[in-house]
Amino acid sequence: MLTRIDHLGIAVKSLEEAIPMYEEAFGLSCENIEEVPSQKVKTAFFNVGGTHIELLEPTSDDSPIAKFIAKNGEGVHHVAFASDDVPGQLAQAKAAGIRLINEEPVVGAGGKQVAFLHPKSTRGVLTEFCSPGH
Ligand code: CO
Repeated sequence: MLTRIDHLGIAVKSLEEAIPMYEEAFGLSCENIEEVPSQKVKTAFFNVGGTHIELLEPTSDDSPIAKFIAKNGEGVHHVAFASDDVPGQLAQAKAAGIRLINEEPVVGAGGKQVAFLHPKSTRGVLTEFCSPGH
């Protein structure tokens, strides 16, 4: 079952430049910076009432985030829903005809299980299911 919106992923060119905007202009504080090798990104998390903002900076030119920024510029990249059963959630989506990017969950930020659905199947919104945490 999906239990809440876990986070919004936002693609940025530079965490160093983006973090101060969230801290100074919005008054949030960065909770955690972490590199996620499976996604070729460095992430920074901000807690907003239990839902997080996940800033994503590419760590290589072939990172999915580098490609996204090259095509679209910086901006909202994905919506992540927490699920108490990520594999079951993927199976349900697949059975409903949704194209999966990850057939099996991979390890994402915070050691969570994460998996992505293809935006062409989900009305243009890159969608992530992740195990609950925080
Ligand atoms: Co995410």
